[in-house]
Amino acid sequence: MAANASRALLCWYAVHKRDLPWRARAGETPDPYRIWLSEIMLQQTTVAAVKPYFAAFTGRWPAVETLAAEADQEVMRAWAGLGYYARARNLLACARAVVAEHGGDFPADEAVLRKLPGIGAYTAAAIVAIAFGRRAVVVDGNVERVIVRLHGLEEPLPKARPCIRALADAMTPDEGAGDFAQAMMDLGATICTPRNPDCGNCPLTGHCAAYASGDPSRYPVKAAKAARPHREGVAYWLERSGKVLLVRRPAKGLLGGMLALPEERPAEAAWRDAGAVDHVFTHFSLTMRLRCAEADANMDGVWWPVERIGEAGLPTLFAKLAARGLAWREAA
Ligand code: ADE
Repeated sequence: MAANASRALLCWYAVHKRDLPWRARAGETPDPYRIWLSEIMLQQTTVAAVKPYFAAFTGRWPAVETLAAEADQEVMRAWAGLGYYARARNLLACARAVVAEHGGDFPADEAVLRKLPGIGAYTAAAIVAIAFGRRAVVVDGNVERVIVRLHGLEEPLPKARPCIRALADAMTPDEGAGDFAQAMMDLGATICTPRNPDCGNCPLTGHCAAYASGDPSRYPVKAAKAARPHREGVAYWLERSGKVLLVRRPAKGLLGGMLALPEERPAEAAWRDAGAVDHVFTHFSLTMRLRCAEADANMDGVWWPVERIGEAGLPTLFAKLAARGLAWREAA
C-alpha cells in the first residue's frame, strides 16, 4: 500500500508540482546552495513570504562564498521582516563553515550536514534528498499532516512523531526521494491543507483513512494547548537633527542581532505617548507603546536618518512602531 500511494503521489507531482524559484527545472542540476537557502527561509515561513527574500539573497549573493564574505549587519538587514532572526545568524555561520571547513561545497551526508549551524534533522534530510538525490526521510509539518491523515492516527502531536517518522520512512521510495519529499510538501500546502482539505483533487483518497472516516479535517487530532501569554512593553523614539536613535540588540535572544528602537529610556526628555502596536511572537503576544521625544544631547547608539528608516532593516515589530514615530513627527 505504501508503494502504491507513493507512486500515485509522484504521478500527481509530475503534473501539479509548483513552479518555485529554488527548484531545478527539467535538465538542470540542483544547486545545493539555493536549496539550503530556501529550506532555511521556509522554516516556519510561507512560500509567498519567502519568494522576494530568496530572489534578493540569490541576486546579491549568488554563491555560498559571496554570502560567507558579507558583513553580519548587511545580512541581518536583508533578512529584516522575515522573522525568526536566529536563522539569519546561523545562515551566515553556516555559509562561513561550508567555505572554511568544506571548501565551499555543501556536504552530501545527513550526519555531516547536521553539525553545521542551523541545520537540524529536517533540513539535513531535505538537502540530501532534494540537492543530492539521495534517499532521506524528510518530515516537516506538511508531511506530518499528510501521514497522520493517510493512516488516521488518533494520537495527537508531538507524541505521534516517532510513529509518523516510521510511516514516512516506509513510504519513501529508494529512487526520487527528493521529488517524493517535495510532492508530500506540495500536497500538504495545496490539497491536504489544515482546514477544508480539497479531497476531491487528491491523488491519495483511495489510500486515506481520514478521507474514509468522512471527516478528514478532524486530523491531526489536537492536544489541548496552553494559551499564549500576553506581555506589555515600551519603546522609545528619540530624534535629533533628523535622525532617530537605534540600538543593536544582543546577538542572543529575541530579535537577536537586529537593529531596533531602544526599550530602555535613553534620556531625560519631554516624552509624549504615540500609541501602541500589537505583535504576535511564537511564545507570547505583545502590546508595545511608543514614547517620542526630541533629544538635546548626543548619546551612544546608531543615529539613523528618519527619512531612510525603511532601509534600516527593522524587524516587523519595530517597523510598525517606526510608522507611529513618523506619524508623531508629522503631527508635531
Ligand atoms: N517547504 C519547505 N521546503 C519546501 C520545498 N522544497 N518545496 C515546497 N515546500 C517546501
